Amino acid sequence: MYQLNNLARQIEKQLPARLVEFMQEAGLVAAAQGQNLYLVGGVVRDLLLGRANLDLDLAVTGNAINLAWRLAGTIPAAKLTPNRHFFTAKLSWENWSVDLATTRSETYARPGALPRVLSASIEEDLFRRDFTINAMAVELIPGRWGEVIDLYGGRDDLEKGLIRILHEDSFIDDATRIWRGLRYEQRLDFKLEPKTLRLLKRDLPMLETISGDRIRHELELALKEELPEKVIRRAANLKVLPEVHPGLKGDDWLARKFEEARQASAPNPPSVELYLALLAYWLTEDQTGKLISYLRLRKSHARTLEESGLLKAELKALAEPALAPSRIYLLLHEYGLPAVTANYLATDSPTIKKHIGLFLTKLRNVKPSLTGRDLAKLGTAPGPQMKEVLRHLLEARLDGKVTSKKGEVEMVEGWKDSIMKSPIFLSLDGRGIKR
Ligand code: CTP
Repeated sequence: MYQLNNLARQIEKQLPARLVEFMQEAGLVAAAQGQNLYLVGGVVRDLLLGRANLDLDLAVTGNAINLAWRLAGTIPAAKLTPNRHFFTAKLSWENWSVDLATTRSETYARPGALPRVLSASIEEDLFRRDFTINAMAVELIPGRWGEVIDLYGGRDDLEKGLIRILHEDSFIDDATRIWRGLRYEQRLDFKLEPKTLRLLKRDLPMLETISGDRIRHELELALKEELPEKVIRRAANLKVLPEVHPGLKGDDWLARKFEEARQASAPNPPSVELYLALLAYWLTEDQTGKLISYLRLRKSHARTLEESGLLKAELKALAEPALAPSRIYLLLHEYGLPAVTANYLATDSPTIKKHIGLFLTKLRNVKPSLTGRDLAKLGTAPGPQMKEVLRHLLEARLDGKVTSKKGEVEMVEGWKDSIMKSPIFLSLDGRGIKR
């Protein structure tokens, strides 16, 4: 399978008919303009591996934006997003999305800078890429449909299970490839080829040339892998992870917690946010702050990391075996769900786990049956008094002291009789509500 010279059958078998039809049409249009068109990048690798991948990258030896406009004209409600700086265009319609690019070479003004892009031959376009297994192309114009272009030994490396860069300066040009290499290695159960591994180690300092935004993007991609702990562990062993923050660990604890996170959120995968909170769990408040600002985490993710740390510091209060449910609720309800879930997974105390579990599965959804309107009819004044009555009702519900709406009404009326003098209940006037 890895040594095929023509992928026509694999394309038709593995890709949805609508995408095959689109590529045939694109090949016809490109050929009519005297251009060559190729399928490139990860999808070629995955066609050879027999893995699902619907992210189509097409490369054309002419103007990709013009070709994209021509093709958009043939598809009702197509949306086209051109990028004139990189000669690329994204074409989307219904549930489909295809990236088109002009075949190009890239030069880097300095390590880690975004590349300067010049249109170039397909050979040069493939040579600028990260790894041999990602540097293959498939011809899409009629007459050559399906023919594989493999100039740098991509198929051999697929067969040998190797991740290999194309030239010595690859990681210097773009150190995000260090993270990319680890992702492919762990996802495919491949190995970094020895020289690539040596250069990766040599070029670790180049990670400093990459902005926190781009490192965050790579980290998020790592956390979207099926088994992200494998990538994180490898990154820790190769000293790539400490470049993100020296306090981060990719150890057995993390692997166990990631696995538990998957079990807890099945059938969906856990959110990146939850994985991040577990990864950052043992950082101090100060270290968490530094990580957040280096990676420029979005507000909601930053809040989750901060809250997760705050709750970690309060967990002892949940270790008391005989805690009333209302007390558990009180200790947890102000934290966001991902931060609570991270602590649920992280704690090794069965009691704390049981209490947080009870909150997550039951207590956080408990509400009194009586609404503010009902209480107003019962004579509760809006404002602090109403808030207080609702809080008491919620506590009674949580602790099982009341289980029905009727019981709640009786409770409110009881409070009125027994604590008439309390400033909170002073305005209860005895007008009942319909039961
Ligand atoms: N590429 C590269 N160097 C980078 C990023 C991308 O050479 N730093 C090239 C590779 O040829 C890659 C292609 O651009 O295959 C598309 O990039 P991307 O979509 O990120 O990679 P995929 O291979 O599709 O990866 P994945 O399977 O993880 O989606």
